[in-house]
Amino acid sequence: MDYIYDDLPKQYSKAVKSSSKVLNSGRNSLFPARIRFLYPFIRHYTNLLFNFAAVNFIMHTILITGGAGFIGSNLVRLFVARYPHYTLVNLDKLTYAGNLENLKDIENAPNYHFVKGDITDMELLRNLFARYQFTGILHCAAESHVDRSITDPLAFVTTNVLGTATLLQVAKENWQGKFEDKIFYHISTDEVYGSLGETGLFTEKTGYDPRSPYSASKASSDHLVRAFYHTYQLPVKLSNCSNNYGPYHFPEKLIPLCIHNIFHNKPLPVYGEGLNVRDWLYVEDHVRAIDLIFHKGRIGETYNIGGHNEWTNIALVKELCRQMDEKLGRAAGTSAQLICFVKDRAGHDLRYAIDATKLKTELGWEPSLQFEEGLSRTIDWYLNNKEWLAHVTSGDYQQYYNQQYHKR
Ligand code: NAD
Ligand code: DAU
Repeated sequence: MDYIYDDLPKQYSKAVKSSSKVLNSGRNSLFPARIRFLYPFIRHYTNLLFNFAAVNFIMHTILITGGAGFIGSNLVRLFVARYPHYTLVNLDKLTYAGNLENLKDIENAPNYHFVKGDITDMELLRNLFARYQFTGILHCAAESHVDRSITDPLAFVTTNVLGTATLLQVAKENWQGKFEDKIFYHISTDEVYGSLGETGLFTEKTGYDPRSPYSASKASSDHLVRAFYHTYQLPVKLSNCSNNYGPYHFPEKLIPLCIHNIFHNKPLPVYGEGLNVRDWLYVEDHVRAIDLIFHKGRIGETYNIGGHNEWTNIALVKELCRQMDEKLGRAAGTSAQLICFVKDRAGHDLRYAIDATKLKTELGWEPSLQFEEGLSRTIDWYLNNKEWLAHVTSGDYQQYYNQQYHKR
């Protein structure tokens, strides 16, 4: 946590300095010669105490949108635990992807509140701003699945574009140019950069070239966020992250879908020849990066976040099969027999890979987990949370699954 000490408000930094002065000036009287050797330790711990008090006086009230989804719930959990002095309001529409079961363990935390609602609802947003006087926004809410964007692009335009614009507009109205200590943090994706060939990496300077309705809607929302910064000086920060995996990932996405299917001995649908490449990052590393950027990143800046961890889909699915055979006590090679190659995704981007040098150099962030270990933890989480998986794969999920995969 020590990096947030640099964010101390000026008055508390002064208090820390003056505490040292008091100790200094009174050194002889406060510390008789026989215990003077303790002075550096006492000064160190007094300063720490002041620092701790000062950190606790940064009283952010943060609106987290989409906090019941995959990344959102991991982010809410981190902030609830790490910042007991903040007020955290989770606004989520609870679409098929939003699930309050993802937040069961923290639902009664005193610094956490849940509101069911839609980010396109301007009146609701105005009421929430009036009630909570937000100083920060962590904007995760989105329609997030590429395959769904191919079947229903307008849902993506509505939430991702109109929803983001509505949130920006209400933040601007409420903050009225008083931007000190305010942050509008927009969480975005590497897909806005388009598709890479066999080599190269996306940097923050790579031009936008979105190719699916999902990535086009996210690109559009990124442009709006930057437009509000340049036009109105709204204090924005953005990050563009590569593919996440980990606990609470909805099983429409490749990794949790395969874990679910392997467990139930169902076919593993690999699009095309399985040679598309993704750069995978454990979700807890992503939310750690978001925390760092929220508190320490520069206003108006974009940070790429990625795992330096490229895998072809087929190699990844085989690794999942290998680990699950071991964990389920199946003979090696059993689950891999479930792999079947199916019709490719329309406009399927070949390769994503992130250059996260800026985040490392400026803020010292690096991924913490090797992929094999992250996958192992993820599989264990799903095997230990079979009830969660059973709930999210009942009802509408079955209909979605049949529509997507039945005739593929
Ligand atoms: P998700 O689909 O799991 O969750 C989205 C959440 O937003 C859900 O809780 C849903 O109920 C909520 N939501 C949807 N429409 C809403 C609306 N109109 N109003 C209020 N809430 C609404 O998504 P995710 O994978 O957690 O992604 C979160 C964000 O991170 C998205 O902006 C996504 O573009 C971005 N992102 C995701 C990944 C990834 O690999 N999953 C990678 C990079 C960036
Ligand atoms: O790169 C970041 C993006 O990663 C996020 O912005 C998106 O919200 C997130 O969904 C993810 O997009 P992808 O399309 O890369 O993720 P998905 O898990 O859907 O697919 C990963 C790869 O696996 C992709 O090449 C398509 C392939 N795939 C996917 C599914 C669901 C299959 O081969 N079979 C499948 O059944």
